[in-house]
Amino acid sequence: MAENDTAGRSTEGMVDYNANSLVQKQHAMGNHERIADLAGRVSHLPAPLNFTDFGCGPGQSTIETARPALTTWQAVDVAKPISICFADQPGNDWDALMALINSETGLLGGDPPPRIETAVGSFYDRMLDDNSVSLATCFFASHWLSVSRPYDAPDTVWFADLTGEARREMWRAAEADWTRFLQMRAQEIRSGGYLFVSTLGAVPEAGEINDTAASGRGVYRALQIVTKSMVDEGLLDRKRAESFVFGLWFMTEAEARRPFETNPDLQDAYEIDIIAVLPVDGGGDLFAGHLDDPAEYARQYAGYTRAFAASSLRKQLFEPTLGAGKDTKWLEDEFFRQFEELYREKTTAYALEQWHLSVVLKRN
Ligand SMILES: C[S@@+](CC[C@H](N)C(=O)[O-])C[C@H]1O[C@@H](n2cnc3c(N)ncnc32)[C@H](O)[C@@H]1O
Repeated sequence: MAENDTAGRSTEGMVDYNANSLVQKQHAMGNHERIADLAGRVSHLPAPLNFTDFGCGPGQSTIETARPALTTWQAVDVAKPISICFADQPGNDWDALMALINSETGLLGGDPPPRIETAVGSFYDRMLDDNSVSLATCFFASHWLSVSRPYDAPDTVWFADLTGEARREMWRAAEADWTRFLQMRAQEIRSGGYLFVSTLGAVPEAGEINDTAASGRGVYRALQIVTKSMVDEGLLDRKRAESFVFGLWFMTEAEARRPFETNPDLQDAYEIDIIAVLPVDGGGDLFAGHLDDPAEYARQYAGYTRAFAASSLRKQLFEPTLGAGKDTKWLEDEFFRQFEELYREKTTAYALEQWHLSVVLKRN
């Protein structure tokens, strides 16, 4: 896979986002108070007040992320122009997002209505003007690396189960991306402004592979079981499967802090308000409410997982390894049929566990 080309982007072509983004929407709503608090802290900054959501996606969750900032600013000083910027990659479903913004549950009902902006590109590059952002968020997005590339990964499709040099290599890529993300935002956020990043994280756990428990370990291990099963059935190319790893990394608190310890420019740019990884209430099994109906439980897991995993599987595993007269769509359907079957049989054995990494930084 060529590095930095369009096909290599980690999240291109995600599907069914709004229908399968329950966790993201809950997360946005759960952070309502913190976003409103941060918006209050920056409301004294010079006009225009700008809120930007990096990796906004196409769904209601980005609207719920922006809303507390908007209502706080509208209440504090109606005279200050307010802009809300949605920042994501070219392949984001921008039409769907604009339709939601313009709907009854959108952002244009208040007084005065904000100026709506978009920034299209990668958050590993510059997306906005120098010193133009008052408050920035980035939810459930910064764990996607800038590039997906092969690793020596015979037994796993998931970063956290890599060991030895493959793990070190992938962490070097993840750390470089996180550092660059912070450096880019440092140029865009104005002095006194805030950056709030929140995404899936990992925690130390003795006895676990690499002594680390990472969010979603059950789901990614289920993805590996299905990958291996389809390789054994001759439906996927073994060599390709043994080097495929999802292009993401869920950081521990120590990993998230690393760039600040090693880069004087980041130490100067930011004051750390919060860097923490905490378990979500109830552990994180989104679909526990369906446990009395294993078929529905399995359907929900397959839909949720397909929404974030299918594009990587298609681009990096299915398309390059087409064999036995099967097309990509057939392979994808078969993959998630087997995945659903696994959850129907094993239910909670592969349940989603979540730890959330929160990073709140003040721009000096
Ligand atoms: C799981 S969605 C999260 C969307 C939204 N923030 C939410 O919480 O619902 C991840 C989003 O990150 C975006 N993304 C991933 N890598 C990106 C990058 N390098 N630059 C900009 N956006 C990126 C994807 O396009 C996708 O819309």
